[in-house]
Amino acid sequence: MAIGFINGEWIPVDQAVLPIDERGHNFGDGVYEVIRVYQGAPFKMREHLVRLEKSAEAILLTMNYTIEELEALIAEGLAKTGLQEASVYLQVTRGIAKRVHLFPDVPASTTMTIREAADISDAVREKGVNVTLVDDERWKNCFIKSLNLLPNVVAKQKAKDAGYYEAVFVRDGVVLEGSSCNIFLVKDGVLITPPANRYILHGITRATLLDIAKEIGVSVEEKEFGTDLLLAADEAFMTSTSMEVMPVVEVDGKKIGNGKPGEISMKLLKNYRAKFQHIGV
Ligand SMILES: Cc1ncc(COP(=O)(O)O)c(C=O)c1O
Repeated sequence: MAIGFINGEWIPVDQAVLPIDERGHNFGDGVYEVIRVYQGAPFKMREHLVRLEKSAEAILLTMNYTIEELEALIAEGLAKTGLQEASVYLQVTRGIAKRVHLFPDVPASTTMTIREAADISDAVREKGVNVTLVDDERWKNCFIKSLNLLPNVVAKQKAKDAGYYEAVFVRDGVVLEGSSCNIFLVKDGVLITPPANRYILHGITRATLLDIAKEIGVSVEEKEFGTDLLLAADEAFMTSTSMEVMPVVEVDGKKIGNGKPGEISMKLLKNYRAKFQHIGV
């Protein structure tokens, strides 16, 4: 069973409740998080909520719940749904007020949905996916998990229409991240990923994978790289809360490595899943 939450009230997910003058849908004036629940336990919940607070701070938005209150609400919602494998979507906006650009003097608005997780099949992971490189037209504050996802959704749709699984943003020749994920490559045994600067979202999965790599003795470099290095990589993969680790086997028609998911990529996926005892690859 799925459930919705709006400012203190649990509701059916399909119940129409948002007033017309909600800044989330008028301006995209808000921030969000997606948290995966494995076997009843929200994974990296604290990290996600800390990032939510940082995103809110960066857009000068004061949240109307504390991290501890949100943790308690997520636990309450999960108990109501009875779901073990779930996805929590949490959104905080600058509230409900007549549409003018200046900030209104009203409290923030928090909404949440908890639904059954829609997992990507392992058959897709075992085969790997193709991506296309696209010019990054986003603003310069991509570390903020903002509701404004227009460049991301358009890039993803165009990529899909052209037969690709994901679009990967490139700014001034520098490879940054996917439309909804971070990117990694492996070259000569070294795991390389773009640095956590303002041009990418500081993925929670990304950080977890970097920790795992260090734990299992894989050398790691957080550094800028261009399309040449990506195309010459031995392995590549993308990470996100919903993708976990997704091997990339082709970039714009050019095979990566031997065109199959890489050994280090799959080892990292296995170790990632071991963190929540998920059964799989
Ligand atoms: C643009 C972008 N980069 C990276 C990520 C991965 O972040 P996380 O691992 O925290 O889910 C996401 C997730 O939605 C994203 O939208």
